[in-house]
Amino acid sequence: KDDPITDTFGRHHTYLRISLTEKCNLRCQYCMPEEGVNLTAKSNLLSTEEILKIANIFVKNGVNKIRLTGGEPTVRKDLIQIIENLKSIPGLQTVAMTTNGLTLTRQLVAFQKAGLDILNVSLDTLNPEKYEKITRRNGWKRAMMGIDLALQLGYNPVKINCVVMKGINDSEVIDFVELTKNKNVDVRFIEYMPFSGNKWNENKMVSYKEMVDNIKSNYTGFYPMINKPNDTSKAWKVPGYKGQIGFITSMSEHFCGSCNRLRLTADGNLKVCLFGNTEVSLRDALRAQCSEDDLTALIGAAVKRKKKQHADISNSNNWLWNATKSWPELSHLY
Ligand code: GTP
Ligand code: 5AD
Ligand code: SF4
Repeated sequence: KDDPITDTFGRHHTYLRISLTEKCNLRCQYCMPEEGVNLTAKSNLLSTEEILKIANIFVKNGVNKIRLTGGEPTVRKDLIQIIENLKSIPGLQTVAMTTNGLTLTRQLVAFQKAGLDILNVSLDTLNPEKYEKITRRNGWKRAMMGIDLALQLGYNPVKINCVVMKGINDSEVIDFVELTKNKNVDVRFIEYMPFSGNKWNENKMVSYKEMVDNIKSNYTGFYPMINKPNDTSKAWKVPGYKGQIGFITSMSEHFCGSCNRLRLTADGNLKVCLFGNTEVSLRDALRAQCSEDDLTALIGAAVKRKKKQHADISNSNNWLWNATKSWPELSHLY
């Protein structure tokens, strides 16, 4: 029988990322303009119930990990209910979340009680004033306290996502490495990616190679570790340090070949690729009273349309130089 979550290149998509909202309580320069983004009317967003119905179908077909994203997922009022209900789906092994961490001191105990397994926190600087410049809001201290609380509560490790931008926070790479000395954090340096409207330019990007060279010149023993097949990040470590370092090389070495992700947008579209526009509205199908079999067929058909890699990625591994204009619309990096 046909497997709806395997594409024509044999990639088995067991990892679903669900965006819960387009809203955010920060305005990171590389992500959102000060005025925020155009929001989908509330009635067009998936309800709690719809999210759970769709998640259920994916899990029945083999998805074993769901990551909640946004915007900022903690903005969503029903988040705890969503986590709790997802956790009760048989066959779903992992519920993860990517957050800016601002609400963790207030809410993480409840998230954990609801069953949240894995936590990634976005943090681009270790300097409170710079945090305010990058995010256009204050909150550095709260984010840091959130990370420490997560460690205390047993999230081991906490992954920290740091988008590295030349002239903005690239001078802090070593400080971030030092953060791994005594804390079991996995600091992942992300190559700055373009998408329409975020003022990306090539000169603001710091490549994997540049970062590794920089760190190696400060730590002679800095060494690469072995990665799991579907990891987006390449793991490294300073000997003796508690945590580790990772690099997400979306720009200099893409990882389309081992992609296992599907995305559900807050308004109910299935996206089979971060860049591609193969979208199908599962929300509309659901609201048109489609049966579960129909929905499964819709998902299967979309997955089968998934391309080998994004159209703008040439065969060369370094596609940065070949990249053209069709970047993802919003920060659908989420
Ligand atoms: P894990 O599940 O812990 O591996 O997390 P993750 O890296 O998949 O998710 P996270 O939300 O922490 O995303 C971190 C970064 O990974 C994002 O900023 C993106 O740059 C990158 N990323 C995530 N998914 C994709 C993808 O499908 N394609 C590409 N090119 N980059 C992605
Ligand atoms: N380039 C790289 N990473 C980005 N993120 C958001 N925008 C960009 C970008 N332009 C990151 C966030 C978050 C993760 C889900 O995506 O910092 O950690
Ligand atoms: Fe909010 Fe994340 Fe975008 Fe920053 S990067 S504005 S925290 S959604």
